[in-house]
Formats: sequence, structure tokens, C-alpha cells
Amino acid sequence: MRTKQTYKALLLLALSASFAAVAAETAVTDSDRIEQYREMISDGNPAEFDEMRGEELWKKAAGPNKVSLEQCDLGKGAGVVKGAYAELPKFFKDTQQVQDLESRLLTCMTTLQGFTEDEIAAKPFASEKKASDISSLATYVVGQSKGIKMAVSTKHPKVKESYEIGKRIFNYRAGPYDFACSTCHATTGVRIRMQDLPNLSHNKKDAQTAYTTWPAYRVSQGLTRSFQWRLNDCFRQQRFPEPKFASEATVALTTFLAVSANGAEFAGPGLKR
Ligand code: HEC
Repeated sequence: MRTKQTYKALLLLALSASFAAVAAETAVTDSDRIEQYREMISDGNPAEFDEMRGEELWKKAAGPNKVSLEQCDLGKGAGVVKGAYAELPKFFKDTQQVQDLESRLLTCMTTLQGFTEDEIAAKPFASEKKASDISSLATYVVGQSKGIKMAVSTKHPKVKESYEIGKRIFNYRAGPYDFACSTCHATTGVRIRMQDLPNLSHNKKDAQTAYTTWPAYRVSQGLTRSFQWRLNDCFRQQRFPEPKFASEATVALTTFLAVSANGAEFAGPGLKR
């Protein structure tokens, strides 16, 4: 395990080296450059620091009840983390709800540890100034599904319903520009400025790659970003109000996107531009 400084130095090196390469050969695209960073730091992803932070939080007694999350049931039984993310969202009997990872973590942190929902939702995403506990926890759990095939079942009618709602949200046009997710993400080969836009509804491979590589360490931001952050940032791009953290709407959208990724090996936490 390298130190944080070494990672930063490596990243800077990777950046300057690839920019030099780009100057020499103009045909190199943005995607090629991202691929170059990936190769250059392939022996380690700075997201590992967030995974480690999350693992510590998972195992640490915390909250008013001073207990760890080791008895949290993520769908495969109390305390089972391995492979849990690859099967989420799922219907949970105790809450009678379809829950994705974040909303389930929220349940465990409130019921087991005694935190209030507001305390957790106050800091759902990491920023330059401060890490986010729930986001780090998610990075840890997600990392424990690396290499496992996505297998989200829609057998339960509530999950099927959530999938259908998610699909409708994906295609729902509104806001000042009359945009939907599908405005930017339902055609193959389109891009905004330098960024290729994945076709999330009609291209299985795009949908699989997009879902299985989040959370991700974003080189441009120097932070590990959660999948929930990605969704919120796209709501912002769409000029929609950002949804409430772990709301039914974000769970539905996540169900739609997770089911679309079924069959692909989970590869996160990833590394992104
Ligand atoms: C105005 C265009 C626009 C709209 C509308 C939009 N997005 Fe995005 N989306 C983007 C851009 C730009 C990126 C970043 C691509 C990159 O960085 O390579 C992105 C990235 C993503 C990614 C990650 C893809 C990956 O491979 O890492 C997901 C998932 C996603 N969007 C989902 C959504 C959802 C769900 C909605 C609707 C709530 C939505 N987007 C609405 C432009 C949009």
C-alpha cells in the first residue's frame, strides 16, 4: 500500500506525461488519455483510501448506541458484505421497502447505531474540505463486490415496480430545458465537449460499464465520488432540483440502472477523468 503523497506524485506524473504525449500526437482523444492514467496507476487506485476509511467506519463502534455496523444486513444476512452490492437494490422485509446501498446503510446507521437520518443526510457526499462517512462506507461495501457479476433480481413485484418507476424517471422530460436523462444518455456516440456520453438505455455495454465503475476516484477533482453523487450531478446538469438523499426516486433510478448492468462483472471503485 502506497502513501497518499506517493499517489499524488504518481498522478501528477501521469498527468504531465500524458499531456506531453498528447501534444506530440494530436490524434489522441480524451478517452485515450484516461486510459493512459489508468494504465500508469494500475497498481493502485487512490479510491483505496476511501475503501479503507469505510472499512474502519464499518468496524468501529459509533453513534449513541456505540455499536459497529458489523450486524448490518445488506441483503445477504447480518454482517455479509462480500457480494452484497452486486445484488442491490433489493426488497427488505424489515423496512418493507426496496433499498439501494445508501438507503440501506442509512437504515443500519439509524436502527443499529442510533444516528438520526438528518445527521447522516447532512453530509451525503465528500467534498475537498471533508470526507463523508456514508459515502466512504459505500465505497468499502462496493469494493467487496469487485469481480462479482451484477445480479439484481426483479422477481419481487416491488423491485419490478421500482425498476419501472426508474425507467420513467429516466425518460421524464421537464425543467427549464425540457431535458430528461434520456436526452443525453439514450443515443450512442454523442458527446458534450470532450466527454463521451454513455447510452444507458439502448446500449447494454455502455450501461454495464457506467454502473460497474462507480464509485470512482475522479482525477479532475482529487476525490472519490459515489454513484449517488453522480446521479445528483446529472440532475444538476439537467437543471432539475437535486433529489433528497436515499429517496424513493433515487432508489428507483438506481434500480433501473443496476438491472441494466446485470451480467457484467462489478469493477468498482473505478478511476475517472
Ligand atoms: C445535459 C446532459 C445530461 C443529462 C440531462 C444527464 N446527464 Fe448523465 N452525464 C452527463 C455527462 C456530461 C456525464 C459525464 C461523462 C464523463 O465524464 O465522461 C454524465 C455521466 C453520467 C453517468 C456516469 C457514466 C460513466 O460511465 O461514468 C451516469 C450513470 C449518468 N450520467 C446518469 C444520468 C442520469 C440517471 C440522468 C438523469 C437524472 C442523467 N445522467 C442526465 C450528461 C448528462
